[in-house]
Amino acid sequence: MSSFEVEAFRAQFPILNQSINGSPLVYLDNGATTQKPQAVIDCLDQYYQGFNSNVHRGAHELADRATRAFEAARDTVSAFIGANNNELIWTRGTTEAINLIAHSWGRVHLSRGDKVMITEMEHHSNIVPWQLLAQQIDIEVIAIPVTAQGELDMAAFEQMLDESVKLVCCVHVSNALGTVNPVEHIIAKAHAVGAKVLIDGAQAVGHFPVDVKALDADFYVSSSHKIFGPTGVGFAYGKYDILDSMMPYQGGGEMIETVSLSGSTFQAPPLRFEAGTPDISGVIAFAAAVSFIQQSDREAMLAHEHDVLDYAHQCAAQTVGMTVIGQSSHKEGVMSFLLDGAHPHDVGTLLDRQGVAVRTGHHCCQPLMAKLGIPGTVRASFSAYNTRDDVDRLFAAIEKTKAFL
Ligand code: ALA
Repeated sequence: MSSFEVEAFRAQFPILNQSINGSPLVYLDNGATTQKPQAVIDCLDQYYQGFNSNVHRGAHELADRATRAFEAARDTVSAFIGANNNELIWTRGTTEAINLIAHSWGRVHLSRGDKVMITEMEHHSNIVPWQLLAQQIDIEVIAIPVTAQGELDMAAFEQMLDESVKLVCCVHVSNALGTVNPVEHIIAKAHAVGAKVLIDGAQAVGHFPVDVKALDADFYVSSSHKIFGPTGVGFAYGKYDILDSMMPYQGGGEMIETVSLSGSTFQAPPLRFEAGTPDISGVIAFAAAVSFIQQSDREAMLAHEHDVLDYAHQCAAQTVGMTVIGQSSHKEGVMSFLLDGAHPHDVGTLLDRQGVAVRTGHHCCQPLMAKLGIPGTVRASFSAYNTRDDVDRLFAAIEKTKAFL
């Protein structure tokens, strides 16, 4: 018996209770960003009204309170993903976390001729940093192919993997298709040839529990705003000994131990990688979002999400002129589709006129769209507060849209 009460959960998100273009909002753009519960909004308010101050440097009570809350947030978020608290670096989000690893790990551990293996379904943020690095140190970036089903070609992966591959970068859940990749298997195979593995968990942590130690990931990155927290904050997890082998990402305050005009020494991880005043309120509110999600029965929440996603796929199968893009049997949170004869942007605009918010286009995955031979998709992406009723509204709006086309 499910103990996830979706209506009570949904009621905690004030933004959902409004009309858009004359219809009640159906928010299906959770892959782009999730909405925020009252607990997160209140947390931001309480910080700025009660103890706004800079961290790790003030000689006064407010600074102490801010520092304690900031470091408690590191405890909360690191425990949430099964990491130690000295293995979690705050970043501006998943993108900055990958750039940090490319710069700080890549420049120390990669050299000419080494290979970085990505996949054809990566978000641009897990492609471009490696291409930029390749321009600087002449590494080769190779990509695991994607099948017509929207899954990784695992036979090709095993064929391409050898000791020249030093790092494998793989998205946990595809933001464009919803495919859940077999990352445990990928990590084990990569480790067998001595490669490290970076997992992009931006679309994973908001849907199912992630344990970075159980996965044995070397790096795991994600963003607060995909899991009910604020934008502008995320993390890079790394095994401590790997972090300790890395050079600083940015120089400035906070990350140093000593500075003289002839040179500087640096803090131990994670502070070595956190130059400048961080997003203090964002970090604290990220932890509030984690505490919020932990109040729910995650297994029951996930069962609810699967029910809604399966229902959407059943409705799609009965809808004439609709093609679902991405047919993996293991998907989370995303249904991408095309309507016959219609450009995705036109479909998105017509859905928006009926109060249904989706994302359209390439979803920052141009190589994936090129591989699938399509310009883009219409993407309905779901969160735990979505219901079968939202799916019914989506399909009613799709039928009206078809009548316009
Ligand atoms: N990466 C986010 C998305 O998929 C922005 O929409």
